Amino acid sequence: FEHGLLTGRHVLINAGPTREAIDPVRYISNHSSGKMGFALAEAAAEAGARVTLVAGPVNLPTPPRVNRIDVVSALEMQAACESALPADLFIAAAAVADYRPADCATHKMKKDPKSSNGLTLELIPNPDILAGIARHAQRPWCVGFAAETHDVLAYAADKLERKNLDLIIANDVSAPGIGFNSDNNAVTLIDRSLHEEHLPMASKNKLARQIISHVAGRLATDKAV
Ligand code: PMT
Repeated sequence: FEHGLLTGRHVLINAGPTREAIDPVRYISNHSSGKMGFALAEAAAEAGARVTLVAGPVNLPTPPRVNRIDVVSALEMQAACESALPADLFIAAAAVADYRPADCATHKMKKDPKSSNGLTLELIPNPDILAGIARHAQRPWCVGFAAETHDVLAYAADKLERKNLDLIIANDVSAPGIGFNSDNNAVTLIDRSLHEEHLPMASKNKLARQIISHVAGRLATDKAV
């Protein structure tokens, strides 16, 4: 792992889940801990980059020399990521909620004690933060993650294409001991020519360094053209 690999680069990373409010005390979210994104931010800073880390609600210390911006919802995460641009590299490790409640109730929603009816929540789509940034004219080199439970590589390749990315990191989140909230992970990097590179199970810190080395190499060759 070389320390000067990303010197002079601005690297934007998002991490963790988002929370989508139902009312003042309830929300929709997911099991992302932020560990993968925080490990990437730490590795990018070690490689010499100026790092902006946009973090959803997580319980993790800020890595050394990383500029951290805390957000809660997908809309806040999008605004913070857009304001951090321009960047040379964007790594979207966050598990952004795809939907949010159409309305957030002003007061705590009350259960009707006389009724045994269920409750239907209307959800509306959130914007796609990564696809939005990948559409910018002056776009950073864009890396996405694809958290999948089946047909992992096929779905990941589809997201690479659909979101106009430079690299997608396929993450099988159905396998035990890796993925959401664990300390270890195993991933496959897929690039625009559909070349696959598998990084076997290791700690998220070790994988983060491998991913940063790989991406820094690609950034150097692609930006030199
Ligand atoms: O946080 P940890 O506990 O360490 O777990 C790590 C992880 C499993 C969350 C991480 O490795 C991972 O896979 N992150 C992406 C999770 C995800 O939401 O994947 P997706 O397949 O739904 O989304 C594809 C890509 O689009 C992702 O880069 C995501 O950040 C981005 N996206 C998705 C939806 C949306 N509205 N906006 C986005 O930018």
